Amino acid sequence: MAGDGYGAIRDAAIAIADGHIAWIGAAKDRPKTVARETRSLSGAWVTPGLVDCHTHLVFAGNRAPEWEMRAKGATYQEIARAGGGILSTVRGTRAATEDDLVAQSLPRAQAMARQGVTTVEIKSGYGLDADSELKMLRAAAKVGTRAKLNVSPTFLGAHTLPPEYKENRAAYVDLICEAMIPVIARDRLAEAVDAFCETIAFTPEETERVFAAATTHGLRVKLHAEQLSNSRGAILAAKYSALSADHLEHLCDDGVAAMAQSGMVAVLLPTAFYFLRETRKPPIDALRRARVPLAIATDCNPGTSPVASPLIALNMACTLYGLAPDEALAGMTRNGAKALGRDDIGTLEAGKSADLAVWRVSDPSELCYWIGADLLLDRYVRGRSDKETNT
Ligand code: NIG
Ligand code: FE
Repeated sequence: MAGDGYGAIRDAAIAIADGHIAWIGAAKDRPKTVARETRSLSGAWVTPGLVDCHTHLVFAGNRAPEWEMRAKGATYQEIARAGGGILSTVRGTRAATEDDLVAQSLPRAQAMARQGVTTVEIKSGYGLDADSELKMLRAAAKVGTRAKLNVSPTFLGAHTLPPEYKENRAAYVDLICEAMIPVIARDRLAEAVDAFCETIAFTPEETERVFAAATTHGLRVKLHAEQLSNSRGAILAAKYSALSADHLEHLCDDGVAAMAQSGMVAVLLPTAFYFLRETRKPPIDALRRARVPLAIATDCNPGTSPVASPLIALNMACTLYGLAPDEALAGMTRNGAKALGRDDIGTLEAGKSADLAVWRVSDPSELCYWIGADLLLDRYVRGRSDKETNT
């Protein structure tokens, strides 16, 4: 029957009070209390608002010219080594004013909201100096307010080595650990600290220094791990009780075991896999067997995933990675929330934030099935409908 496997309640009612779900269940069982206002969503499906737990959606410019070079045969790593890649977006982002960054990033955030996202994680990492990183984090907060999205900000100072530290890697890691992380923790500008542990970015030893500083300052960690090669980053992340390890195409068996042991989430980014034309997939079956929760995210960024569509990420999780649609949807709701360390969102239960997506579908599998269809009827963010707030 429609909705089997999703924990669906047919002919349901949801009561909302003070921005939270006060009650949810079969409409015939609903409490007799008189509601101030009743709305019929007859014929629609309601899911938790989508949680996109890994994005870099604040940045200036784009990298279409590099993409064109890749289409003609250059690899992502070659472009990065030649000073392009992440560094070309760093140049643009440093030069942009905060207002510019907000203006350029807002359409991406609005596109996400129009596809049912209510919470989005946004990483810094295209500033790579204290002022520019803080500018990105402030821009992320503003973008969230304007697009009516809850933003979970992440500090990614360890995204790549900035050119001015080319001859002195250790000094940049010092700057992250001794200057940036303390300020970010003190001013609560980020909820977590991420790093890119990879041959073209930071070594496991450098990553560990960043994790140690984050932990000292009370910030949770997460990691871009095993995307292009196996640096055993997931194992390092597990040692620091990371929220998640993300990408994971080259994750080994020891990495799976370490993630399971420490209760981490595996964040899968199938649109980046697609865009880079990767062929090696993350070890999905091994992760399932080890009961590691699987989250799905867009990785929205100018280099490896110029994708502002959560529903395309869900489709690719199914078509490219072989997830079942109910598994994929859980990856962008329940497990996306878990990857952000949030227990107040991601499921429809009494007591949770009333963040809902209302869909024009006849079965929830359609959320993973259509590409480019217009499926969203409405969103509720902390109990307020987009229709009342004129989005
Ligand atoms: O998640 N892997 C590192 N970071 C991004 C790419 C960022 C970029 O190329 O601008 C990613 O794939
Ligand atoms: Fe990423």
